[in-house]
Amino acid sequence: KILILDFGSQVTQLIARRVRDAGVFSEVFPYDVSDDFIRSYGAAGVILSGSHNSTLEGESPRAPQAVFELGVPVLGICYGMQTMAMQLGGKVENGKVREFGYAEVRARGHTRLLNEINDFVTSEGHGMLKVWMSHGDKVLEMPPGFKLMGSTPSCPVAAMADEERGFYALQFHPEVTHTTQGEAIIGRFVHEICGCKSDWNMPDYISEAVEKIRAQVGSDEVILGLSGGVDSSVAAALIHRAIGDQLTCVFVDHGLLRKDEGKMVMDMFSKNLGVKVVNIDASEQFMGHLAGVTDPEQKRKIIGREFVEVFQEQAKKQSKARWLAQGTIYPDVIESAGKGKKGQTIKSHHNVGGLPETLNLKLLEPLRELFKDEVRKLGVALGLPHDMVYRHPFPGPGLGVRILGEVKREYADLLREADAIFIEELRKTPFEAPMVPGIDAGKAPVNWYEATSQAFAVFLPVKSVGVMGDGRTYEYVVALRAVQTLDFMTAQWAHLPHSLLGTVSNRIINEVRGLNRVVYDISGKPPATIEWE
Ligand code: XMP
Repeated sequence: KILILDFGSQVTQLIARRVRDAGVFSEVFPYDVSDDFIRSYGAAGVILSGSHNSTLEGESPRAPQAVFELGVPVLGICYGMQTMAMQLGGKVENGKVREFGYAEVRARGHTRLLNEINDFVTSEGHGMLKVWMSHGDKVLEMPPGFKLMGSTPSCPVAAMADEERGFYALQFHPEVTHTTQGEAIIGRFVHEICGCKSDWNMPDYISEAVEKIRAQVGSDEVILGLSGGVDSSVAAALIHRAIGDQLTCVFVDHGLLRKDEGKMVMDMFSKNLGVKVVNIDASEQFMGHLAGVTDPEQKRKIIGREFVEVFQEQAKKQSKARWLAQGTIYPDVIESAGKGKKGQTIKSHHNVGGLPETLNLKLLEPLRELFKDEVRKLGVALGLPHDMVYRHPFPGPGLGVRILGEVKREYADLLREADAIFIEELRKTPFEAPMVPGIDAGKAPVNWYEATSQAFAVFLPVKSVGVMGDGRTYEYVVALRAVQTLDFMTAQWAHLPHSLLGTVSNRIINEVRGLNRVVYDISGKPPATIEWE
């Protein structure tokens, strides 16, 4: 396995993704782990990430010295290169201009890392790489023992290596897709230089994970809050595979679910997989507490609080339960570690606020090591339906934040119908357009549902005039929202075909009594958000 030390770059997670894509397990830890941790971790190689810091500033972070004494290959990327240079006796200088964007690196010295990897060869026979750069400082003098591995006109030491000791360093970012040979370079590092085999795969992972869960919980009972979302569903399926009836899932229906969602969850888990699921219809209680409340944050708080309440009540009945299972995934873990103070005590991420503390249960989080796409693959390998596992994300407060202002059952019913029509048409319509650059993350989408990252209808509690037959109508409006995004931090509105929008609008107005107008949201994030509340 590969150990990645994080100096705080925004793309550190991508390094782990690329290494795992190469079939090698890897984990991210903060740069300041102890020398003992480094020595006992058992890494076949270490990667030092980039950072927003400068190595030239006073207290800037350094890699633990043990990294360079382990006897395993080390790859420094960007800041990781600069700190490697400084710690091993080289010099870094403050670049007067920041270099940000594409660059062409001339590969030099026929090193094991870059040899014969290139995008094109110049007429003089130099192998060239198209790469992504983002740095201010640069290496001025290489440490003793290093030779030049690549250069650009503005960055003479763009890559360097001490092959005898297995130290490699790149000023550019091989982990981002803009560096076209990035995958090849990372693959070369982990396979050929570190000697790792491609043995990180789902079937092996399932058996390991099952063993681990059994060892962890023994004969104890476990409860899990099943939301119908990907993470809690996959966690439930995995834990059920490990301990069967020792697992009880609690599914809380707050009345703000999508159409048929409750039935779908019960069918799949209870009927098909034979998982014990307690289905609690708490919609009365939620609607009651939401009556008259219009502020979005207030609504979120109420829904969160009621959820905890209902779940806790059920948990008390499950008095033999010793463990609370959660679908925490790796990005949640890294995110909460980054937010807390440095160090090894990684905080738990709570999908549902405050549960573990008050219930006095131990936490079982079997997906803590996995990225989202790995969780999906695991779900499919465990027998969950593809459509379920590849569903768009759905917010915890559900339709509660998609009904603007006060939430009423009548509004939720109208919205559910409109939303279901929109989603059905997205799934039905083949996707033939070219994928938007920068969004395309994996396999080619076959329909518009797959081509969008999140799509839904929003209920607007305003009435507008329409005509239907000979009569005048005065009814509510729904807005359709469909976005494409990689990380949900920024997003663009999807350019859905007009014919698709037309069909959806016709169907909604004809089939859902109470709605007579459909609009399409053409706002990007920022400045708009994805949800309307
Ligand atoms: P925004 O609206 O902030 O949404 O652009 C970004 C992503 O976060 C989801 N979202 C939520 N998820 N509870 C959740 O579990 C919430 O209160 C919530 N609000 C927004 C949203 O669906 C989108 O995927």
